[in-house]
Amino acid sequence: MLTDEQINNIRSSVNIVDIISDYIPLTKRGKNYFGICPFHPDGDPSFCVSEQKQIYTCFSCKASGNVIHFVMNYENISFKEALKNIADKSGINVDINISTNKVNNKNSELYDIYDIATKFYQNNINTVSGKKAKEYLYERGFTDNVIKDFMIGLSLTNHDLLTKMLVNKHFSNDDMIKSGLVVKNNYGYADIYNNRIMFPIWDITGKVVGFSGRIFNGEDTSQYSKYINTRETPIFKKGELLYNYHRAKNSCRKKNMVIIMEGQLDLIRTCSIGVDNVIATMGTAFTKEHATLVKRLAKEVIICFDGDGAGEKATIACGNELVNLGITPKVVRLEDNLDPDEYIKKYGKDKFISKLDNPINFMDFKLSFYKNGKDLNNNNDVAQYVNTIIDELAKVDDEVLRELTLKKLSVETDLDIDFLRNNLNKKNIKVNNNFKGEIKTIKEDKYELAAKHLIYYMLKDKKVIKEYNSSKVYIPIEKYRILAKEIDCFYVNNGFVNIADLMNSFINDENMIKLIGEIGTLDLKDNYDMSQINDYINVLKQYSVNNEVLSLEKKLKMTVDRGEKLVLAQKLFELKKGQDSVKKER
Ligand code: UTP
Ligand code: MN
Repeated sequence: MLTDEQINNIRSSVNIVDIISDYIPLTKRGKNYFGICPFHPDGDPSFCVSEQKQIYTCFSCKASGNVIHFVMNYENISFKEALKNIADKSGINVDINISTNKVNNKNSELYDIYDIATKFYQNNINTVSGKKAKEYLYERGFTDNVIKDFMIGLSLTNHDLLTKMLVNKHFSNDDMIKSGLVVKNNYGYADIYNNRIMFPIWDITGKVVGFSGRIFNGEDTSQYSKYINTRETPIFKKGELLYNYHRAKNSCRKKNMVIIMEGQLDLIRTCSIGVDNVIATMGTAFTKEHATLVKRLAKEVIICFDGDGAGEKATIACGNELVNLGITPKVVRLEDNLDPDEYIKKYGKDKFISKLDNPINFMDFKLSFYKNGKDLNNNNDVAQYVNTIIDELAKVDDEVLRELTLKKLSVETDLDIDFLRNNLNKKNIKVNNNFKGEIKTIKEDKYELAAKHLIYYMLKDKKVIKEYNSSKVYIPIEKYRILAKEIDCFYVNNGFVNIADLMNSFINDENMIKLIGEIGTLDLKDNYDMSQINDYINVLKQYSVNNEVLSLEKKLKMTVDRGEKLVLAQKLFELKKGQDSVKKER
Protein backbone atom coordinates (compact mmCIF):
# COMPACT_ATOMS: atom_id res chain seq x y z
CA MET A 1 0.00 0.00 0.00
CA LEU A 2 1.15 3.52 -0.68
CA THR A 3 2.13 5.89 2.10
CA ASP A 4 0.10 9.03 2.77
CA GLU A 5 2.97 11.03 1.38
CA GLN A 6 2.93 9.10 -1.91
CA ILE A 7 -0.82 9.54 -2.16
CA ASN A 8 -0.52 13.26 -1.53
CA ASN A 9 2.22 13.50 -4.14
CA ILE A 10 0.05 11.89 -6.75
CA ARG A 11 -2.82 14.14 -5.81
CA SER A 12 -0.75 17.29 -6.07
CA SER A 13 0.90 16.23 -9.31
CA VAL A 14 -2.21 17.29 -11.20
CA ASN A 15 -4.40 20.36 -11.21
CA ILE A 16 -7.97 19.46 -10.30
CA VAL A 17 -9.27 22.02 -12.80
CA ASP A 18 -7.50 20.29 -15.70
CA ILE A 19 -8.67 16.85 -14.73
CA ILE A 20 -12.30 17.81 -14.14
CA SER A 21 -12.34 19.81 -17.38
CA ASP A 22 -11.68 16.56 -19.22
CA TYR A 23 -15.01 15.32 -17.94
CA ILE A 24 -17.29 18.32 -17.74
CA PRO A 25 -17.15 21.85 -19.15
CA LEU A 26 -16.08 24.42 -16.55
CA THR A 27 -16.33 28.18 -16.71
CA LYS A 28 -14.21 30.52 -14.64
CA ARG A 29 -16.06 32.94 -12.39
CA GLY A 30 -13.98 34.92 -9.95
CA LYS A 31 -11.43 32.68 -8.27
CA ASN A 32 -13.36 29.50 -8.94
CA TYR A 33 -14.60 27.36 -11.80
CA PHE A 34 -18.22 26.34 -12.23
CA GLY A 35 -20.03 23.61 -14.09
CA ILE A 36 -23.07 21.38 -13.93
CA CYS A 37 -22.77 18.82 -11.16
CA PRO A 38 -22.39 15.27 -12.51
CA PHE A 39 -23.45 13.76 -9.20
CA HIS A 40 -27.09 14.81 -9.06
CA PRO A 41 -29.74 15.67 -11.62
CA ASP A 42 -29.47 19.38 -12.30
CA GLY A 43 -29.32 21.96 -15.02
CA ASP A 44 -27.72 24.75 -12.99
CA PRO A 45 -24.00 25.34 -12.63
CA SER A 46 -23.87 24.70 -8.90
CA PHE A 47 -20.71 22.62 -9.11
CA CYS A 48 -17.71 24.63 -7.97
CA VAL A 49 -14.05 23.73 -8.41
CA SER A 50 -11.52 25.67 -6.36
CA GLU A 51 -8.12 25.80 -7.97
CA GLN A 52 -6.63 27.31 -4.88
CA LYS A 53 -7.94 24.62 -2.52
CA GLN A 54 -7.81 21.84 -5.13
CA ILE A 55 -11.24 20.59 -4.17
CA TYR A 56 -14.73 20.54 -5.67
CA THR A 57 -18.04 21.14 -3.93
CA CYS A 58 -21.59 21.13 -5.19
CA PHE A 59 -23.76 23.77 -3.58
CA SER A 60 -26.87 21.74 -4.33
CA CYS A 61 -26.13 18.13 -3.48
CA LYS A 62 -23.09 18.89 -1.29
CA ALA A 63 -20.90 16.38 -3.13
CA SER A 64 -17.30 17.24 -2.37
CA GLY A 65 -13.79 15.90 -2.57
CA ASN A 66 -10.37 16.27 -4.09
CA VAL A 67 -9.31 15.14 -7.55
CA ILE A 68 -9.05 11.50 -6.49
CA HIS A 69 -12.60 11.48 -5.15
CA PHE A 70 -13.83 13.09 -8.33
CA VAL A 71 -12.34 10.44 -10.59
CA MET A 72 -13.45 7.73 -8.17
CA ASN A 73 -17.06 8.90 -8.05
CA TYR A 74 -17.32 9.89 -11.68
CA GLU A 75 -15.86 6.69 -13.06
CA ASN A 76 -17.38 4.61 -10.29
CA ILE A 77 -14.06 3.04 -9.44
CA SER A 78 -12.18 2.38 -6.21
CA PHE A 79 -9.86 4.86 -4.53
CA LYS A 80 -6.89 2.82 -5.65
CA GLU A 81 -8.04 2.67 -9.23
CA ALA A 82 -8.62 6.42 -9.26
CA LEU A 83 -5.18 6.97 -7.82
CA LYS A 84 -3.64 4.79 -10.49
CA ASN A 85 -5.62 6.60 -13.16
CA ILE A 86 -4.30 9.98 -11.99
CA ALA A 87 -0.75 8.72 -11.57
CA ASP A 88 -0.87 7.42 -15.13
CA LYS A 89 -2.07 10.77 -16.38
CA SER A 90 0.84 12.61 -14.87
CA GLY A 91 3.33 9.90 -15.73
CA ILE A 92 4.12 8.87 -12.17
CA ASN A 93 5.18 5.27 -11.90
CA VAL A 94 3.40 3.62 -9.01
CA ASP A 95 3.00 0.07 -8.01
CA ILE A 96 -0.69 -0.23 -7.27
CA ASN A 97 -2.11 -3.68 -7.28
CA ILE A 98 -5.70 -3.13 -8.27
CA SER A 99 -6.82 -6.74 -8.07
CA THR A 100 -5.89 -7.08 -4.39
CA ASN A 101 -8.72 -4.82 -3.37
CA LYS A 102 -11.09 -7.70 -4.01
CA VAL A 103 -10.74 -8.58 -0.36
CA ASN A 104 -12.97 -5.70 0.61
CA ASN A 105 -15.29 -6.12 -2.31
CA LYS A 106 -18.55 -7.65 -1.16
CA ASN A 107 -19.53 -9.01 -4.52
CA SER A 108 -16.22 -10.34 -5.72
CA GLU A 109 -17.68 -13.87 -5.99
CA LEU A 110 -20.34 -12.68 -8.40
CA TYR A 111 -17.81 -10.85 -10.52
CA ASP A 112 -15.65 -13.96 -10.58
CA ILE A 113 -18.55 -16.16 -11.60
CA TYR A 114 -19.49 -13.87 -14.48
CA ASP A 115 -15.88 -13.72 -15.60
CA ILE A 116 -15.64 -17.48 -15.72
CA ALA A 117 -19.01 -17.77 -17.44
CA THR A 118 -18.09 -15.16 -20.06
CA LYS A 119 -14.96 -17.06 -21.00
CA PHE A 120 -16.79 -20.37 -20.98
CA TYR A 121 -19.57 -19.12 -23.29
CA GLN A 122 -17.09 -17.38 -25.58
CA ASN A 123 -15.10 -20.54 -25.89
CA ASN A 124 -18.20 -22.58 -26.71
CA ILE A 125 -19.19 -20.43 -29.63
CA ASN A 126 -15.80 -20.97 -31.20
CA THR A 127 -16.04 -24.77 -31.08
CA VAL A 128 -17.95 -27.04 -33.46
CA SER A 129 -20.97 -26.81 -31.17
CA GLY A 130 -21.04 -23.13 -31.90
CA LYS A 131 -21.44 -23.48 -35.64
CA LYS A 132 -25.20 -22.92 -35.73
CA ALA A 133 -25.05 -19.98 -33.36
CA LYS A 134 -22.39 -18.34 -35.47
CA GLU A 135 -24.38 -18.86 -38.62
CA TYR A 136 -27.32 -17.18 -36.94
CA LEU A 137 -25.18 -14.21 -35.97
CA TYR A 138 -23.59 -13.95 -39.42
CA GLU A 139 -27.06 -14.05 -40.89
CA ARG A 140 -27.93 -11.07 -38.71
CA GLY A 141 -24.91 -9.20 -40.01
CA PHE A 142 -22.46 -9.79 -37.18
CA THR A 143 -18.86 -10.45 -38.15
CA ASP A 144 -16.35 -12.44 -36.11
CA ASN A 145 -14.87 -9.17 -34.96
CA VAL A 146 -18.18 -7.93 -33.67
CA ILE A 147 -18.77 -11.25 -31.91
CA LYS A 148 -15.40 -10.88 -30.26
CA ASP A 149 -15.76 -7.19 -29.39
CA PHE A 150 -19.09 -7.75 -27.67
CA MET A 151 -17.83 -10.97 -26.09
CA ILE A 152 -20.82 -12.85 -27.44
CA GLY A 153 -20.90 -16.52 -26.48
CA LEU A 154 -23.03 -19.61 -26.34
CA SER A 155 -24.53 -21.76 -23.61
CA LEU A 156 -24.61 -25.42 -24.55
CA THR A 157 -27.34 -28.03 -24.66
CA ASN A 158 -25.76 -30.02 -21.83
CA HIS A 159 -27.53 -29.05 -18.66
CA ASP A 160 -24.83 -28.62 -16.10
CA LEU A 161 -21.45 -27.84 -17.67
CA LEU A 162 -21.14 -24.36 -16.20
CA THR A 163 -22.48 -25.49 -12.83
CA LYS A 164 -19.90 -28.27 -12.63
CA MET A 165 -17.17 -25.86 -13.50
CA LEU A 166 -18.24 -23.44 -10.77
CA VAL A 167 -18.51 -26.27 -8.24
CA ASN A 168 -14.99 -27.37 -9.11
CA LYS A 169 -13.83 -23.87 -8.47
CA HIS A 170 -15.44 -24.01 -5.01
CA PHE A 171 -18.10 -21.38 -5.38
CA SER A 172 -20.83 -21.77 -2.79
CA ASN A 173 -24.30 -22.91 -3.81
CA ASP A 174 -25.65 -19.62 -2.55
CA ASP A 175 -23.39 -17.58 -4.78
CA MET A 176 -24.13 -19.77 -7.80
CA ILE A 177 -27.87 -19.32 -7.31
CA LYS A 178 -27.44 -15.61 -6.63
CA SER A 179 -25.63 -15.18 -9.93
CA GLY A 180 -28.76 -16.15 -11.87
CA LEU A 181 -26.78 -18.66 -13.93
CA VAL A 182 -27.57 -21.73 -11.86
CA VAL A 183 -30.87 -23.19 -10.69
CA LYS A 184 -31.69 -25.79 -8.05
CA ASN A 185 -34.01 -28.51 -9.30
CA ASN A 186 -35.12 -31.97 -8.17
CA TYR A 187 -31.82 -33.49 -9.23
CA GLY A 188 -29.50 -30.92 -7.78
CA TYR A 189 -27.95 -27.85 -9.35
CA ALA A 190 -28.01 -27.11 -13.07
CA ASP A 191 -27.37 -24.37 -15.62
CA ILE A 192 -30.20 -21.95 -16.28
CA TYR A 193 -29.07 -21.23 -19.81
CA ASN A 194 -29.23 -23.97 -22.41
CA ASN A 195 -28.50 -23.40 -26.03
CA ARG A 196 -28.84 -19.66 -26.07
CA ILE A 197 -26.61 -17.01 -27.56
CA MET A 198 -25.15 -15.24 -24.55
CA PHE A 199 -24.63 -11.48 -24.45
CA PRO A 200 -22.65 -10.32 -21.45
CA ILE A 201 -24.01 -7.20 -19.77
CA TRP A 202 -21.43 -4.83 -18.39
CA ASP A 203 -21.76 -2.25 -15.68
CA ILE A 204 -20.68 1.26 -16.53
CA THR A 205 -17.07 0.48 -15.71
CA GLY A 206 -16.96 -2.55 -17.99
CA LYS A 207 -17.27 -5.39 -15.51
CA VAL A 208 -19.63 -8.19 -16.54
CA VAL A 209 -22.57 -8.17 -14.13
CA GLY A 210 -25.06 -10.38 -15.93
CA PHE A 211 -26.16 -11.92 -19.21
CA SER A 212 -28.94 -11.75 -21.72
CA GLY A 213 -29.46 -15.07 -23.50
CA ARG A 214 -31.27 -15.21 -26.84
CA ILE A 215 -33.05 -18.09 -28.49
CA PHE A 216 -31.65 -18.76 -31.95
CA ASN A 217 -32.68 -22.22 -33.00
CA GLY A 218 -36.03 -21.25 -34.41
CA GLU A 219 -37.80 -22.24 -31.18
CA ASP A 220 -41.25 -20.92 -30.67
CA THR A 221 -40.93 -17.52 -28.98
CA SER A 222 -44.50 -17.72 -27.80
CA GLN A 223 -43.49 -20.71 -25.71
CA TYR A 224 -40.01 -19.61 -24.65
CA SER A 225 -38.98 -16.04 -23.95
CA LYS A 226 -36.88 -14.59 -26.72
CA TYR A 227 -34.43 -13.23 -24.21
CA ILE A 228 -33.72 -14.43 -20.70
CA ASN A 229 -31.81 -12.01 -18.54
CA THR A 230 -29.97 -12.95 -15.39
CA ARG A 231 -31.71 -11.79 -12.28
CA GLU A 232 -31.08 -8.40 -10.77
CA THR A 233 -28.43 -8.41 -8.05
CA PRO A 234 -26.80 -5.66 -6.02
CA ILE A 235 -24.39 -5.21 -8.95
CA PHE A 236 -26.93 -5.61 -11.77
CA LYS A 237 -29.84 -3.21 -11.76
CA LYS A 238 -31.35 -2.61 -15.16
CA GLY A 239 -32.71 0.73 -14.09
CA GLU A 240 -29.22 1.92 -13.27
CA LEU A 241 -27.09 0.68 -16.10
CA LEU A 242 -26.97 1.22 -19.80
CA TYR A 243 -25.73 -1.40 -22.17
CA ASN A 244 -22.39 -0.56 -23.83
CA TYR A 245 -21.79 2.49 -21.62
CA HIS A 246 -18.11 1.85 -20.96
CA ARG A 247 -17.37 1.11 -24.61
CA ALA A 248 -19.23 4.16 -25.90
CA LYS A 249 -18.00 6.61 -23.27
CA ASN A 250 -15.01 8.09 -25.02
CA SER A 251 -16.60 8.27 -28.42
CA CYS A 252 -19.67 10.02 -26.98
CA ARG A 253 -17.51 12.59 -25.26
CA LYS A 254 -15.44 13.18 -28.37
CA LYS A 255 -18.48 13.60 -30.60
CA ASN A 256 -20.45 15.33 -27.85
CA MET A 257 -23.34 13.12 -28.86
CA VAL A 258 -25.06 10.05 -27.45
CA ILE A 259 -27.48 7.86 -29.34
CA ILE A 260 -29.91 5.90 -27.18
CA MET A 261 -31.52 2.66 -28.35
CA GLU A 262 -33.85 0.08 -26.89
CA GLY A 263 -32.06 -3.23 -27.15
CA GLN A 264 -28.62 -4.74 -27.30
CA LEU A 265 -29.10 -6.32 -30.74
CA ASP A 266 -29.95 -2.97 -32.34
CA LEU A 267 -26.99 -1.44 -30.65
CA ILE A 268 -24.52 -4.07 -31.73
CA ARG A 269 -25.78 -3.87 -35.30
CA THR A 270 -25.35 -0.08 -35.22
CA CYS A 271 -21.80 -0.40 -33.91
CA SER A 272 -21.06 -2.88 -36.67
CA ILE A 273 -21.71 -0.19 -39.28
CA GLY A 274 -19.23 2.14 -37.62
CA VAL A 275 -21.50 4.20 -35.36
CA ASP A 276 -20.04 3.66 -31.92
CA ASN A 277 -21.50 6.40 -29.71
CA VAL A 278 -24.52 4.28 -28.80
CA ILE A 279 -25.91 3.05 -25.51
CA ALA A 280 -29.08 1.06 -24.86
CA THR A 281 -31.65 0.38 -22.19
CA MET A 282 -32.35 -3.27 -21.55
CA GLY A 283 -36.06 -3.74 -22.00
CA THR A 284 -36.95 -1.47 -19.08
CA ALA A 285 -38.17 2.08 -18.82
CA PHE A 286 -35.65 4.87 -19.06
CA THR A 287 -35.02 6.15 -15.53
CA LYS A 288 -33.71 9.30 -13.94
CA GLU A 289 -30.52 7.37 -13.16
CA HIS A 290 -30.16 6.55 -16.85
CA ALA A 291 -30.62 10.21 -17.69
CA THR A 292 -27.93 11.18 -15.21
CA LEU A 293 -25.55 8.70 -16.81
CA VAL A 294 -26.32 9.97 -20.29
CA LYS A 295 -25.78 13.53 -19.22
CA ARG A 296 -22.27 12.68 -18.12
CA LEU A 297 -21.36 11.75 -21.66
CA ALA A 298 -22.53 14.58 -23.87
CA LYS A 299 -24.91 17.45 -24.35
CA GLU A 300 -26.40 16.26 -27.65
CA VAL A 301 -28.68 13.25 -27.35
CA ILE A 302 -30.56 11.35 -30.03
CA ILE A 303 -33.30 8.91 -29.09
CA CYS A 304 -33.57 6.21 -31.73
CA PHE A 305 -36.07 3.67 -30.43
CA ASP A 306 -38.10 1.04 -32.23
CA GLY A 307 -40.42 2.38 -34.93
CA ASP A 308 -43.56 0.87 -33.42
CA GLY A 309 -46.12 2.47 -31.13
CA ALA A 310 -44.40 1.21 -28.00
CA GLY A 311 -41.17 2.78 -29.18
CA GLU A 312 -42.99 6.03 -29.77
CA LYS A 313 -44.40 6.11 -26.24
CA ALA A 314 -41.03 5.16 -24.80
CA THR A 315 -39.45 8.01 -26.75
CA ILE A 316 -41.75 10.52 -25.03
CA ALA A 317 -40.97 9.05 -21.61
CA CYS A 318 -37.23 8.94 -22.23
CA GLY A 319 -37.20 12.46 -23.66
CA ASN A 320 -39.07 13.80 -20.65
CA GLU A 321 -36.56 12.27 -18.25
CA LEU A 322 -33.79 13.99 -20.17
CA VAL A 323 -35.62 17.31 -20.30
CA ASN A 324 -35.95 17.12 -16.50
CA LEU A 325 -32.18 17.20 -16.35
CA GLY A 326 -31.91 20.09 -18.73
CA ILE A 327 -31.12 18.09 -21.86
CA THR A 328 -33.29 18.65 -24.92
CA PRO A 329 -32.93 15.50 -26.97
CA LYS A 330 -33.52 14.98 -30.64
CA VAL A 331 -35.50 12.10 -32.07
CA VAL A 332 -35.11 9.68 -34.96
CA ARG A 333 -38.24 7.78 -35.94
CA LEU A 334 -37.99 4.71 -38.16
CA GLU A 335 -40.76 3.96 -40.65
CA ASP A 336 -42.78 0.76 -41.00
CA ASN A 337 -42.46 -0.10 -37.29
CA LEU A 338 -38.88 -1.17 -37.89
CA ASP A 339 -36.25 -1.32 -35.19
CA PRO A 340 -32.72 -0.05 -36.01
CA ASP A 341 -31.46 -3.52 -36.83
CA GLU A 342 -34.35 -4.28 -39.19
CA TYR A 343 -34.03 -0.83 -40.72
CA ILE A 344 -30.38 -1.35 -41.55
CA LYS A 345 -31.21 -4.71 -43.03
CA LYS A 346 -34.01 -3.34 -45.17
CA TYR A 347 -32.60 0.03 -46.27
CA GLY A 348 -28.87 -0.36 -45.83
CA LYS A 349 -26.39 1.37 -43.59
CA ASP A 350 -26.13 4.63 -45.54
CA LYS A 351 -29.82 5.34 -45.31
CA PHE A 352 -29.76 4.60 -41.59
CA ILE A 353 -26.79 6.88 -41.02
CA SER A 354 -28.50 9.66 -42.92
CA LYS A 355 -31.52 9.17 -40.62
CA LEU A 356 -29.23 9.66 -37.64
CA ASP A 357 -27.77 12.75 -39.29
CA ASN A 358 -31.21 14.30 -39.63
CA PRO A 359 -33.04 13.93 -36.34
CA ILE A 360 -36.12 15.99 -35.54
CA ASN A 361 -36.32 18.06 -32.40
CA PHE A 362 -38.19 16.68 -29.41
CA MET A 363 -40.89 19.33 -29.49
CA ASP A 364 -41.73 18.64 -33.13
CA PHE A 365 -41.89 14.98 -32.27
CA LYS A 366 -44.30 15.78 -29.47
CA LEU A 367 -46.44 17.85 -31.81
CA SER A 368 -46.82 14.92 -34.14
CA PHE A 369 -47.22 12.45 -31.29
CA TYR A 370 -50.07 14.33 -29.66
CA LYS A 371 -51.71 14.95 -33.02
CA ASN A 372 -51.91 11.20 -33.60
CA GLY A 373 -55.52 10.15 -34.09
CA LYS A 374 -56.83 13.69 -33.67
CA ASP A 375 -58.92 15.51 -36.20
CA LEU A 376 -57.92 19.15 -36.29
CA ASN A 377 -61.25 20.05 -37.88
CA ASN A 378 -62.94 18.90 -34.71
CA ASN A 379 -63.02 21.57 -32.00
CA ASN A 380 -62.79 19.11 -29.13
CA ASP A 381 -59.72 17.51 -30.62
CA VAL A 382 -58.13 20.90 -31.24
CA ALA A 383 -58.78 21.99 -27.66
CA GLN A 384 -57.27 18.80 -26.27
CA TYR A 385 -54.28 19.07 -28.54
CA VAL A 386 -53.62 22.74 -27.76
CA ASN A 387 -53.93 22.22 -24.02
CA THR A 388 -51.54 19.28 -24.06
CA ILE A 389 -48.94 21.18 -26.05
CA ILE A 390 -49.23 24.23 -23.83
CA ASP A 391 -48.69 22.02 -20.79
CA GLU A 392 -45.62 20.60 -22.48
CA LEU A 393 -44.32 24.04 -23.41
CA ALA A 394 -44.59 25.18 -19.83
CA LYS A 395 -41.82 22.69 -19.03
CA VAL A 396 -39.52 24.01 -21.73
CA ASP A 397 -36.56 26.08 -20.71
CA ASP A 398 -35.73 27.58 -24.06
CA GLU A 399 -37.61 30.75 -24.89
CA VAL A 400 -36.86 30.57 -28.60
CA LEU A 401 -38.11 27.02 -28.79
CA ARG A 402 -41.28 28.02 -26.97
CA GLU A 403 -41.91 30.85 -29.38
CA LEU A 404 -41.24 28.74 -32.47
CA THR A 405 -43.56 26.03 -31.23
CA LEU A 406 -46.31 28.53 -30.44
CA LYS A 407 -46.03 29.79 -33.97
CA LYS A 408 -46.38 26.30 -35.42
CA LEU A 409 -49.29 25.59 -33.14
CA SER A 410 -50.97 28.80 -34.20
CA VAL A 411 -50.61 27.95 -37.89
CA GLU A 412 -51.86 24.41 -37.37
CA THR A 413 -54.90 25.33 -35.33
CA ASP A 414 -55.73 28.77 -36.68
CA LEU A 415 -55.64 30.17 -33.15
CA ASP A 416 -54.13 33.58 -32.58
CA ILE A 417 -50.53 33.35 -31.33
CA ASP A 418 -51.13 35.98 -28.63
CA PHE A 419 -54.01 33.97 -27.31
CA LEU A 420 -51.78 30.88 -27.14
CA ARG A 421 -48.98 32.86 -25.52
CA ASN A 422 -51.30 34.23 -22.87
CA ASN A 423 -52.47 30.76 -22.05
CA LEU A 424 -48.90 29.59 -21.73
CA ASN A 425 -47.97 32.50 -19.50
CA LYS A 426 -50.85 31.66 -17.18
CA LYS A 427 -49.17 28.31 -16.50
CA ASN A 428 -46.24 30.09 -14.85
CA ILE A 429 -43.44 28.34 -16.58
CA LYS A 430 -41.73 25.83 -14.39
CA VAL A 431 -38.26 24.80 -15.33
CA ASN A 432 -35.81 22.51 -13.57
CA ASN A 433 -35.62 24.18 -10.26
CA ASN A 434 -36.39 21.09 -8.23
CA PHE A 435 -33.14 21.57 -6.37
CA LYS A 436 -33.34 25.28 -5.79
CA GLY A 437 -36.21 24.72 -3.39
CA GLU A 438 -34.03 22.79 -1.00
CA ILE A 439 -32.51 25.84 0.63
CA LYS A 440 -31.57 25.04 4.17
CA THR A 441 -34.21 26.29 6.51
CA ILE A 442 -33.04 24.81 9.78
CA LYS A 443 -31.26 27.52 11.64
CA GLU A 444 -27.93 26.29 12.81
CA ASP A 445 -27.47 26.57 16.52
CA LYS A 446 -24.64 28.62 17.89
CA TYR A 447 -22.56 25.60 18.87
CA GLU A 448 -22.66 24.20 15.37
CA LEU A 449 -21.75 27.58 13.95
CA ALA A 450 -18.86 28.02 16.38
CA ALA A 451 -17.54 24.55 15.55
CA LYS A 452 -17.73 25.19 11.82
CA HIS A 453 -16.03 28.54 12.04
CA LEU A 454 -13.32 27.25 14.32
CA ILE A 455 -12.61 24.40 11.90
CA TYR A 456 -12.67 26.77 8.94
CA TYR A 457 -9.80 28.74 10.45
CA MET A 458 -8.01 25.58 11.60
CA LEU A 459 -7.89 24.60 7.95
CA LYS A 460 -6.44 27.99 7.10
CA ASP A 461 -3.82 28.55 9.74
CA LYS A 462 -1.79 26.26 11.96
CA LYS A 463 -1.83 28.88 14.72
CA VAL A 464 -5.52 28.14 15.13
CA ILE A 465 -4.81 24.42 15.34
CA LYS A 466 -2.38 25.10 18.15
CA GLU A 467 -4.92 27.29 19.92
CA TYR A 468 -7.54 24.57 19.60
CA ASN A 469 -5.13 22.02 20.92
CA SER A 470 -4.03 23.99 23.97
CA SER A 471 -7.60 25.00 24.83
CA LYS A 472 -8.52 21.32 25.32
CA VAL A 473 -12.03 22.25 24.23
CA TYR A 474 -14.50 19.41 23.95
CA ILE A 475 -16.57 19.99 20.80
CA PRO A 476 -20.05 18.79 21.69
CA ILE A 477 -21.08 17.64 18.22
CA GLU A 478 -19.40 14.41 17.27
CA LYS A 479 -18.69 14.99 13.57
CA TYR A 480 -16.98 18.30 14.26
CA ARG A 481 -15.09 16.81 17.17
CA ILE A 482 -13.76 14.00 14.96
CA LEU A 483 -12.87 16.41 12.20
CA ALA A 484 -11.02 18.81 14.50
CA LYS A 485 -9.06 15.93 16.00
CA GLU A 486 -8.19 14.65 12.56
CA ILE A 487 -6.97 18.08 11.49
CA ASP A 488 -4.83 18.30 14.59
CA CYS A 489 -3.46 14.83 13.91
CA PHE A 490 -2.78 15.61 10.26
CA TYR A 491 -0.90 18.70 11.29
CA VAL A 492 1.19 16.86 13.86
CA ASN A 493 2.15 14.24 11.25
CA ASN A 494 2.81 16.55 8.35
CA GLY A 495 3.59 19.98 9.71
CA PHE A 496 0.94 21.51 7.45
CA VAL A 497 -2.71 21.10 6.61
CA ASN A 498 -4.46 21.41 3.31
CA ILE A 499 -8.03 20.52 2.58
CA ALA A 500 -7.38 18.38 -0.47
CA ASP A 501 -4.95 16.05 1.31
CA LEU A 502 -6.98 16.01 4.50
CA MET A 503 -9.86 14.58 2.48
CA ASN A 504 -7.73 11.50 1.84
CA SER A 505 -7.95 10.69 5.55
CA PHE A 506 -11.62 9.89 5.02
CA ILE A 507 -11.57 7.70 1.92
CA ASN A 508 -14.75 5.81 2.69
CA ASP A 509 -16.55 8.46 4.64
CA GLU A 510 -18.49 10.44 2.09
CA ASN A 511 -20.28 12.46 4.76
CA MET A 512 -17.06 13.59 6.32
CA ILE A 513 -15.67 14.61 2.93
CA LYS A 514 -18.85 16.56 2.28
CA LEU A 515 -18.48 18.24 5.64
CA ILE A 516 -14.89 19.24 4.92
CA GLY A 517 -15.95 20.57 1.54
CA GLU A 518 -18.81 22.50 3.08
CA ILE A 519 -16.68 24.08 5.77
CA GLY A 520 -13.80 24.76 3.41
CA THR A 521 -16.03 26.75 1.09
CA LEU A 522 -17.80 28.81 3.76
CA ASP A 523 -17.85 32.44 2.86
CA LEU A 524 -15.87 33.74 5.82
CA LYS A 525 -13.42 36.59 5.99
CA ASP A 526 -9.81 35.75 5.28
CA ASN A 527 -8.62 37.97 8.11
CA TYR A 528 -9.32 37.02 11.66
CA ASP A 529 -7.78 37.58 15.05
CA MET A 530 -7.19 35.25 17.95
CA SER A 531 -9.90 36.79 20.11
CA GLN A 532 -12.41 35.72 17.51
CA ILE A 533 -11.03 32.18 17.67
CA ASN A 534 -11.26 32.24 21.43
CA ASP A 535 -14.87 33.32 21.15
CA TYR A 536 -15.64 30.16 19.19
CA ILE A 537 -13.80 28.05 21.72
CA ASN A 538 -15.63 29.67 24.61
CA VAL A 539 -19.00 29.15 23.03
CA LEU A 540 -18.16 25.48 22.63
CA LYS A 541 -16.94 25.23 26.20
CA GLN A 542 -20.12 26.86 27.38
CA TYR A 543 -22.05 23.93 25.97
CA SER A 544 -20.26 21.48 28.21
CA VAL A 545 -20.74 23.80 31.16
CA ASN A 546 -24.43 24.16 30.46
CA ASN A 547 -24.79 20.42 30.32
CA GLU A 548 -22.88 20.00 33.53
CA VAL A 549 -25.06 22.63 35.20
CA LEU A 550 -28.20 20.83 34.13
CA SER A 551 -27.00 17.50 35.44
CA LEU A 552 -25.84 19.00 38.74
CA GLU A 553 -29.16 20.71 39.23
CA LYS A 554 -30.90 17.42 38.65
CA LYS A 555 -28.68 15.62 41.15
CA LEU A 556 -29.20 18.38 43.67
CA LYS A 557 -32.94 17.86 43.49
CA MET A 558 -32.63 14.11 43.94
CA THR A 559 -30.17 14.11 46.81
CA VAL A 560 -31.40 14.00 50.38
CA ASP A 561 -28.02 13.88 52.08
CA ARG A 562 -27.31 17.39 53.37
CA GLY A 563 -23.53 17.15 53.15
CA GLU A 564 -23.72 16.02 49.56
CA LYS A 565 -26.22 18.74 48.74
CA LEU A 566 -23.76 21.30 49.96
CA VAL A 567 -20.95 19.96 47.82
CA LEU A 568 -23.17 19.96 44.76
CA ALA A 569 -24.39 23.47 45.41
CA GLN A 570 -20.84 24.71 45.75
CA LYS A 571 -19.88 23.10 42.44
CA LEU A 572 -22.89 24.64 40.77
CA PHE A 573 -22.03 28.03 42.08
CA GLU A 574 -18.46 27.81 40.72
CA LEU A 575 -19.69 26.70 37.34
CA LYS A 576 -22.25 29.46 37.06
CA LYS A 577 -19.71 32.04 38.10
CA GLY A 578 -17.39 30.79 35.32
CA GLN A 579 -20.22 31.02 32.84
CA ASP A 580 -20.89 34.62 33.74
CA SER A 581 -17.27 35.56 33.29
CA VAL A 582 -17.26 33.92 29.85
CA LYS A 583 -20.34 35.93 28.96
CA LYS A 584 -18.72 39.13 30.16
CA GLU A 585 -15.56 38.45 28.17
CA ARG A 586 -17.51 38.22 24.93
P1 UTP B 1 -37.05 -6.41 -28.59
O1 UTP B 1 -38.16 -7.36 -28.54
O2 UTP B 1 -37.22 -5.11 -29.31
O3 UTP B 1 -35.83 -7.22 -29.15
O4 UTP B 1 -36.59 -6.10 -27.11
P2 UTP B 1 -34.74 -6.83 -30.24
O5 UTP B 1 -33.74 -5.95 -29.61
O6 UTP B 1 -35.39 -6.37 -31.48
O7 UTP B 1 -34.06 -8.23 -30.46
P3 UTP B 1 -34.13 -9.14 -31.75
O8 UTP B 1 -33.85 -8.24 -32.90
O9 UTP B 1 -35.50 -9.71 -31.80
O10 UTP B 1 -33.09 -10.15 -31.50
C1 UTP B 1 -35.72 -5.06 -26.75
C2 UTP B 1 -34.97 -5.42 -25.50
O11 UTP B 1 -35.85 -5.84 -24.49
C3 UTP B 1 -35.30 -6.88 -23.71
C4 UTP B 1 -33.92 -7.13 -24.27
O12 UTP B 1 -32.97 -6.39 -23.53
C5 UTP B 1 -34.03 -6.60 -25.68
O13 UTP B 1 -32.79 -6.21 -26.20
N1 UTP B 1 -36.12 -8.11 -23.80
C6 UTP B 1 -36.88 -8.38 -24.89
C7 UTP B 1 -36.10 -9.00 -22.76
O14 UTP B 1 -35.43 -8.77 -21.76
N2 UTP B 1 -36.83 -10.16 -22.85
C8 UTP B 1 -37.57 -10.46 -23.94
O15 UTP B 1 -38.20 -11.55 -23.99
C9 UTP B 1 -37.60 -9.54 -24.98
MN1 MN C 1 -34.79 -6.51 -33.49
